[in-house]
Amino acid sequence: MEQIRAHHESGKRASQEIDRRELLGISEAQEQAGFAAAVLEHYRQHKRDLPWRRDKDPYHIWVSEIMLQQTRVQAVIPYYERFLEELPSVNDLAEVSMDNLNKLWEGLGYYSRARNLRSGAQYVMEHFGGEIPRTSQELLKIPGIGPYTAGAISSIAFGEVQPAIDGNLLRVMSRILSFDESIDTVKGKRQICEETRWRMTSGDPGDFNQGMMDIGATICSVRDPKCSFCPIVSFCFAHALGREESYPIRKPKAGRRIEDKTVLLLRYGAEWRLEKRLEPLLNGLYGFPILEGHLSKEMVRNAVEQMGYQIRNMKKGPSGKHIFSHIEWHMQSFIMEVEASLVSEDISGYFSGEEQVVFASKERIERELSIPSAFQVFREVLDEEF
Ligand code: ADE
Repeated sequence: MEQIRAHHESGKRASQEIDRRELLGISEAQEQAGFAAAVLEHYRQHKRDLPWRRDKDPYHIWVSEIMLQQTRVQAVIPYYERFLEELPSVNDLAEVSMDNLNKLWEGLGYYSRARNLRSGAQYVMEHFGGEIPRTSQELLKIPGIGPYTAGAISSIAFGEVQPAIDGNLLRVMSRILSFDESIDTVKGKRQICEETRWRMTSGDPGDFNQGMMDIGATICSVRDPKCSFCPIVSFCFAHALGREESYPIRKPKAGRRIEDKTVLLLRYGAEWRLEKRLEPLLNGLYGFPILEGHLSKEMVRNAVEQMGYQIRNMKKGPSGKHIFSHIEWHMQSFIMEVEASLVSEDISGYFSGEEQVVFASKERIERELSIPSAFQVFREVLDEEF
């Protein structure tokens, strides 16, 4: 090992130059068959008991994979079970209203996933007679299904030899290969995809992919990987070089854009003003009114009066931050009680152009309306007395 490290330190390109198999002491055949066997054996013995692993129904796998895309496994489980109770078939999903769908998704975040999932289900009804196609090539035609999801569904439900390439798999494989190129490029991803495909030709491809997901999630962590528990450590070039944490190599990430917002918590009697938020990030969910920027109390007062309200009481409310994938909202808020006499006709709910405004009690908000995760920090205000 010392010799290997010394060799590596002698030049950046060392890991590319050393023949991987020679260094690991394995033949090509051992690398191909042994790798898959080790992943599959690990999966059989340590497989996490997750509800979407109880059957191989492609609809169930589709729903789970979409929910899991930006959300932790433990958070997804109750949503997954409720979702399938309410919408047990592709047809049910295709026909559900956006409001009901959003309610089922409330709290999971990234609501466009739910809308895309429904569009996908509608596409399956229209173009595939309600039957989810069996190959990743066909699955890729469905809106909202990209290479990762197509790989997961086709391998798990139908046994296609197709890698499911996500961030976890890229990290594991970039370490296995000591992959000295960026994994953020099409070329890098393609190479890793082919290296993975080559290793998954024996055994069950769905179990292989899920085994790799488990290794990525529980062993081959970003920092401090638990190599002594890893079933494929003997195939890992980065480990042999003592450089696990140098991989994956990434292009520097473009910074998120920060947007300042002032949120209006506007109360009339026991009801709060909500409106359907039409910006893409909130996608038709009910939310509190928003003003752009961090505005002073006076500026907010003016804006609210211009909206037709007379303010009786006003105080600063909670602040919060919400991270969408490429944008961060930095929010401040004001809590206001408005006068009855000057409130315009929107008290009972009306459509003004595209925008639906409603006043709703805390109970109705909790029962019927989906408040996006971005606004969760303001929920506590609904209990407040003036
Ligand atoms: N993360 C994404 N897909 C998964 C799956 N099928 N099992 C466990 N974790 C996952």
